[in-house]
Amino acid sequence: MAVLPILQLGDPRLRQVSRPVTAAELATPATQAFIDDLIETMHHAHGAGLAAPQVGDLRRICAVHVRKNPRYPYKPDHPLTVFVNPVIEVVGDAVEWIYEGCLSVPDLRGLVPRHMHVRVTAWDRHGQPMALEARGLSAGTYQHEFDHLDGLLFVDRVADARTLTTWAEFDKHHKAEFVAHAQAINARYLGAPEKNDGPIE
Ligand code: NI
Repeated sequence: MAVLPILQLGDPRLRQVSRPVTAAELATPATQAFIDDLIETMHHAHGAGLAAPQVGDLRRICAVHVRKNPRYPYKPDHPLTVFVNPVIEVVGDAVEWIYEGCLSVPDLRGLVPRHMHVRVTAWDRHGQPMALEARGLSAGTYQHEFDHLDGLLFVDRVADARTLTTWAEFDKHHKAEFVAHAQAINARYLGAPEKNDGPIE
């Protein structure tokens, strides 16, 4: 296994639409080794997810894994999951504003609107069909990762550029309020215990 270099904002490969993977291609040792590398790279960089185009491989493959993530301590845990050729469907009209960051966009965060309930169909890494449903911040994570497969970055979804912030300034000026908001989202969509007082907005 190997830790791969992560492409950074400005690399044209991040802006391309990735192509679907065939079942035969997925089963090859080379593709399976690539998926191992993608996972190792995600873990090494403490990402909540990583999409193949972020390491220069323009195929519709991405991984998500959230477990006490130091980059996103308020994100609910999510088991290691590999998505191949994912198709996402929005359920309902709930949307929340989330501060996102990205391993391909160094030292920047910004507020993006994300649907709070989605259904996903995809193959797992062995080509077995999966159907998943996600609510809350996990639904946002899926949208972020799948956007990469279409050449989109979170900065494209930032509606107000004035919300852009470095990570240090986020910690100083926005973190406390956003962590409360994230906890409210977890409570509203996952039924987790609510930790903050007052109205949820
Ligand atoms: Ni990203």
